[in-house]
Amino acid sequence: MQDILEIIKTRRTVKQFLPKFVEWDKISKILDAARHAPSCGNIQNWKFVVVLETDLKQKLAEAALQQYEITNAFALIVVCAEAQKAERYYGLRGDRLYTVQNCAAAIQNILLEAHSLGLGTRWIGAFEEEMVKRALSIPEEVRPQAIIALGYPKEIPEKPPKYPLETVVYFNKWRNKIRDPAKYMRDYAVLLKRKLVQIKEAIIKK
Ligand SMILES: Cc1cc2nc3c(=O)[nH]c(=O)nc-3n(C[C@H](O)[C@H](O)[C@H](O)COP(=O)(O)O)c2cc1C
Repeated sequence: MQDILEIIKTRRTVKQFLPKFVEWDKISKILDAARHAPSCGNIQNWKFVVVLETDLKQKLAEAALQQYEITNAFALIVVCAEAQKAERYYGLRGDRLYTVQNCAAAIQNILLEAHSLGLGTRWIGAFEEEMVKRALSIPEEVRPQAIIALGYPKEIPEKPPKYPLETVVYFNKWRNKIRDPAKYMRDYAVLLKRKLVQIKEAIIKK
């Protein structure tokens, strides 16, 4: 089994795709990963429209502010939200926040499962919603949240810089950084390991 952190860290946004067939077995696993994402109250208020037809891909690329490279992807998965369902249970917070978070969790599952199967993805958030809805006959009350381009990657882009852990983590209070979290947490296993390394180094030096 692959290490999940390794999959998370090595996933990249793929810009170019190979004109290569992607097996249904893989696509179905990816969709299965999506539907197993967490959702508020387990309401699963999402639908996934798999687009394989060339003319529809072209329309979606146009809707996506002319990001035409996505037409080379084998499939475009349009993640759609049924916000009304969330609003019924959770009001405005369900409509505006939970629905977006539910779909984002499903999208991340899509990206990670695809990557673990050797496929590349590109999360497209920039698009004209109405154009996407028209192209795919999506009803008025349903909101497309993202278009995921999926296919075999032509090249793996370099990892863009990510903020180091220390700069994005606070403890207990906003802006409160801890220089040595292991010490603060009294994680003696880590502290002992460190001490052993120090002792070993000291012995080697002598
Ligand atoms: C909400 C959202 C919208 C995005 N929209 C686009 C997009 O329209 N086009 C695109 O090429 N990439 C898009 N991306 C991908 C980001 O540009 C990409 O995740 C970021 O540059 C970091 O690169 P990485 O995914 O390789 O870590 C989007 C990502 C997110 C989360």
